Amino acid sequence: MLIKRPFMIASSEITPRPVYLRRRDFLRRAVALGLLGGSYTGSWGQVPAGRTLTAKASALSTREKATAYEHASGYVNFYEFGTDKGDPPVYAPKMKTRPWSVMIDGEVKRKGPLDIEDLLKLAPMEERIYRLRCVEAWSMVIPWVGFSFAELVKRVEPTSRAKYVAFTTRMDPESMVGLNLPVLNWPYSEGLRLDEAMHPLTLLAFGMYGQTLPNQNGAPVRIVVPWKYGFKSAKSIVKITFTEHQPNTAWNDAAAREYGFYSNVNPEVDHPRWSQATERRIGEDGFFTPKRKTLMFNGYADQVAGLYTGMDLKKNF
Ligand code: MTE
Repeated sequence: MLIKRPFMIASSEITPRPVYLRRRDFLRRAVALGLLGGSYTGSWGQVPAGRTLTAKASALSTREKATAYEHASGYVNFYEFGTDKGDPPVYAPKMKTRPWSVMIDGEVKRKGPLDIEDLLKLAPMEERIYRLRCVEAWSMVIPWVGFSFAELVKRVEPTSRAKYVAFTTRMDPESMVGLNLPVLNWPYSEGLRLDEAMHPLTLLAFGMYGQTLPNQNGAPVRIVVPWKYGFKSAKSIVKITFTEHQPNTAWNDAAAREYGFYSNVNPEVDHPRWSQATERRIGEDGFFTPKRKTLMFNGYADQVAGLYTGMDLKKNF
């Protein structure tokens, strides 16, 4: 594990939000102007200066304090780069993220490749601070930068037959040392029902902590679905396919009894091998800290429960 330093109290906790946002904007501008050198230290701990993404704060953000950058970028699941949490930060920087395009295909009127630079300009960027709950019973709070996936869907015009969206991710044998491991059927793939994908909370993310995504977190583009277990949030996407039928997904193919298609965060449905009732917040909760209660739909029930009206969530886990 790459957790080295004690968690720092986020200034958002002790400073009124408008003041804290102004201060952070100053820090970002300072970074853009090169005033602070290669990185800056702010409410998120040390954040390396990369390509800054200007974004406006979103009302969909949680008020919980964000996990320090070093944990969000250092304690990572990206199996293509190895199964240890510390592997992706070591190997992923070798992956080339330019040129990059995302193929749009399937049941959609506007098919074809979309260049990442055009995708970045598709809609105004927002900063969305979301809880991320991993199926392994830990969680983080991450300030993502991106826009609702629905913005893309509207522009590519799905046909009336489109009911699902499938995400296919990058396979790069040069940098992805984990592709040699028979853990999953590569490429990593995920899927959502079209109405889930169109929900305003579903984010197409290009950055985090004010900068473009580090490779280990899914550069240059990933999906973030905050009410589902983290594995639904596919990283480094190269293809988005609109389909009539429910698509196969990598984890469901590997162990259908353990990982359902829906995988909504649900403290009442245990994983066959462990409880999902509680979680440990990375960077904050020590080994002896009592675990936090996991919330239904990861705390987003008010916004998303309506998507599942009438469904048996124990059966459709
Ligand atoms: N996407 C790809 N392509 N490969 C992966 O192994 N792991 C998933 C998801 N997306 C994964 C992936 C899992 S298990 C989690 S918990 C989240 O990414 C973690 O995202 P983060 O490390 O950026 O917080």
